[in-house]
Amino acid sequence: MAAAAIGAARRSRRDLNGRPTCHASHPQTASKRPITGASCTAGAWMRHHPIGCTAGPNRGAVRDYHRPGMDRWQTIIEPFRIKSVEPIRLTTPEMREATLAEAGYNLFNLHAADVLIDLLTDSGTGAMSAEQWAGIQRGDESYAGSPSWFRFLDAVTELWPFKHVIPTHQGRAAEKILFSVIGGPGQVIPSNTHFDTTRANVEFTGAEAVDVVIAEGRSPSTEHPFKGNMDVEALDALILDRGVENIPVVFVTITNNSGGGQPVSLANLRAVRAVCDRYGLPLFLDACRFAENAWFIKEREDGYADAAIPDIVREMAALADGMTMSGKKDALANIGGWLALDDDAWAEQCRNLLILTEGFPTYGGLAGRDLEAMAAGLREVVDEDYLRYRIRSTAYLGEALLASGIPCVRPIGGHAVYLDAAALLPHIEPLAYPGQALACALYREGGIRGCEIGTVMFGQHPDGTETPAAMELVRLAIPRRVYTQSHIDYVIEVIRWVAGRSETLRGMRIVEQPSTLRHFTARFAPLA
Ligand SMILES: Cc1ncc(COP(=O)(O)O)c(C=O)c1O
Repeated sequence: MAAAAIGAARRSRRDLNGRPTCHASHPQTASKRPITGASCTAGAWMRHHPIGCTAGPNRGAVRDYHRPGMDRWQTIIEPFRIKSVEPIRLTTPEMREATLAEAGYNLFNLHAADVLIDLLTDSGTGAMSAEQWAGIQRGDESYAGSPSWFRFLDAVTELWPFKHVIPTHQGRAAEKILFSVIGGPGQVIPSNTHFDTTRANVEFTGAEAVDVVIAEGRSPSTEHPFKGNMDVEALDALILDRGVENIPVVFVTITNNSGGGQPVSLANLRAVRAVCDRYGLPLFLDACRFAENAWFIKEREDGYADAAIPDIVREMAALADGMTMSGKKDALANIGGWLALDDDAWAEQCRNLLILTEGFPTYGGLAGRDLEAMAAGLREVVDEDYLRYRIRSTAYLGEALLASGIPCVRPIGGHAVYLDAAALLPHIEPLAYPGQALACALYREGGIRGCEIGTVMFGQHPDGTETPAAMELVRLAIPRRVYTQSHIDYVIEVIRWVAGRSETLRGMRIVEQPSTLRHFTARFAPLA
């Protein structure tokens, strides 16, 4: 895609039907909403709990991005009431040990009913609002041109005014379609950090996925306000080294899930854009957690404290040529996703594949009701009360663990707390999977299900070799609007208990694994 074509496409935003997408007329665009409440993520909390980001060896190494907020109270008020509840089955450690053995020590193999607090993922596990359930009722199931599609399209392009929007059943379907079109042997796809499905979809086409995150992003204990930033010099060097003709696209993941849920600044996106412009390369965002990223920009980046979240999102969009999206994150839905882009030729090829594998371009693997849920979710996710609660409650868990001396990726990310298993279990070598050992211990002791993000997830290579991952993490992802502060207090108690006995934990070995994405199905056994 030539730079000129990219520029032209960016200047003229049109929808699937060629309608101009005029966002200035939307109330969110036209008016800068007054900022209500606190403008601080963890500010008030951290004044009472001066740990984590505001303390430690790197204090002062970065700008004071935790501006004091206006919050008066320490208690996190969930900005919703609960109208419908699901029972949690209480189990004992003995029951859970038996369940664990049956599951081959892979927490993905558990029956979810045997899990007490499920922090496996924040993907599709959120609670929907009354408005979203109303949308589900309203869902129009016409095969083509459903009103639900147009409501979805409006909600997407209000924030992400790309010319083409291609709905998919989830994020990885968008990745699969895009990389089938632009990947292939000899191609190189740089990203700050590819998520596992993104990497796998790139590699499946024979292309190479290369991570070029800043050095701070690879070090769990180093403080930086935007640890998800791309290393712009490394990107430039990679392009020169591999040849611009072999790089179809540059990707940036916001927030950087595999790197600890860390945000990317607008300044960094602008710098990446400048490199892309220099070489005539398109820039795509893996935008799964765009609203959380926008909140961090508002909190931490100079000049954005008074900006409205939708305006920050549109500023990110204006720097990019396309996006892949999982609606299971920041569209607050249980299923769904999309691919959006400006380039007509790529869009045509992607739509052709969509019809083969997903469905007609106005539903793409989803029911009309799913499109409605995402449309309503997209309006709710940019609400500041929601985002303040969301980011602050994740910080609540992380800061309490840091206060107990439990090593976590710092600063605390948006959707999850990442325990540093390598630091907590130095006696377990990487190829004995310390993250897996820790995740199993949290389940056995407290029924908490987390997810290993380390050598199990990233150590296996297409040629069959295995190397240690850059970090050995256990991700405790917080489902949106699901757990209360007392659930999280229980999690804190269990983790403290396990950490107090960390030297008793043993490593694991793999007894069975598939050739790709092994973390989903591999079976393990504890080492003697
Ligand atoms: C950053 C990122 N990209 C892509 C995906 C894939 O999305 P999905 O699970 O909807 O296929 C995920 C899912 O967790 C993700 O976190």
